[in-house]
Amino acid sequence: MQWDSYFAKRTELTTRSTIRELLKYTIQPEVISFAGGLPAPELFPVERIRQATNTVLTQHGPEALQYSTTEGMPELRSFLAQRLSSETLSVKPENILIVTGSQQALDLIARVFVNERDRVILENPTYLGMLQTLKPYDLTYLPVTTDDDGMRIEALPELLRQQPKLMYVVPTYQNPQGTTLTKQRRLDLIHMLEPYPVPLVEDNPYSELCYTGEIEPSLMELDAQSLGIRELNGRVIYTSTFSKILSPGLRVGWIAAPLPVIDKLVAVKQSTDLHTSTFVQYIINEVVRDGFLESHIAQLRTTYRQRRDIMLAAMEHYFPQEVSWSHPAGGLFLMVYLPQYIDAQELLQEALAYKVAFVPGVDFHVGNSGHNTFRLNFSHESPPMIEEGMKRLGQLLKNAIQQKDLPLRV
Ligand SMILES: Cc1ncc(COP(=O)(O)O)c(C=O)c1O
Repeated sequence: MQWDSYFAKRTELTTRSTIRELLKYTIQPEVISFAGGLPAPELFPVERIRQATNTVLTQHGPEALQYSTTEGMPELRSFLAQRLSSETLSVKPENILIVTGSQQALDLIARVFVNERDRVILENPTYLGMLQTLKPYDLTYLPVTTDDDGMRIEALPELLRQQPKLMYVVPTYQNPQGTTLTKQRRLDLIHMLEPYPVPLVEDNPYSELCYTGEIEPSLMELDAQSLGIRELNGRVIYTSTFSKILSPGLRVGWIAAPLPVIDKLVAVKQSTDLHTSTFVQYIINEVVRDGFLESHIAQLRTTYRQRRDIMLAAMEHYFPQEVSWSHPAGGLFLMVYLPQYIDAQELLQEALAYKVAFVPGVDFHVGNSGHNTFRLNFSHESPPMIEEGMKRLGQLLKNAIQQKDLPLRV
């Protein structure tokens, strides 16, 4: 069969994720990998999940193994609604849709909101998985450049006048840069959006992984405050996940949104997977009871804060002065900025020979930019491996800078 001629036209622009492909090479035990967005596996609460699974099977076996509603398990929706509510915002269980990882949230949101060739505002760089989701729609991106304080919102009014269909932001400990939109910029952003009826997607998987300073209020909260309402009925569609605070293998995330949006997303989700695994929802509901999540997140913060600090100190020590990098207050990533003449994709080939891996930044960028950047994950490798990895990378960077007139070996 000539399969290519049978594939639907909309799949033409769909390609496999570079990171997922890269992970095949980086899982070799001798490679020190800073490539994936992997949580530390030794911190997965295996015993707690084992106990929860036993309890679920003993006490709720038949229901947990049955089909269930698309919206998700009522108890879990209530738990999440309560967690998202604050003094000024009251999120109801009906505002919550349980999804199969927040990646599914992004896919459903795209399917509900964008038509081919629409315009979408996003940060540049932004989350690679969202770019992959949006690819088949052949969109016109309206990219917003970023600095240490997140999106440079002064560029927004001009973009908003171009009638975008959607705006997508990862405002807190962003993937890939680890940067955070400051409180003042959040307020200014919400204010700037006032005259424009554009839905705002707030993708927020990392805000609980905070190591320095305070967690900024969500755009969802600030939006409701600016409208003077307590209920979730503004422009924000919020998504987050258990992947980074419990385990990504469970594949459970959620969307919080106004009721008409939830209604439409439910209809689209039905056609995708009917519902997220009933069994896994029961297990998570059992795991998170009694404040477990709070103590677990505290432990994650301690370990990841230490790893971030070790990575930053080692970079300071080993990296040449021509190179700079972001200083994240939380999350799992930081970004390295190289001199313009170094291409991080070419550098990666060299790095793999040194048995160290990162993700070239170009895949997080739109508009053919970011060739001289790469992303490092600091949650997965142990402190000695982080130290050794930065040493190898530092040497590699020094070599690349010294040889700037020579083509890099590929
Ligand atoms: C910004 C962002 N959004 C969404 C996701 C998807 O997460 P999951 O599908 O595991 O919930 C990730 C994963 O790395 C991410 O970094």
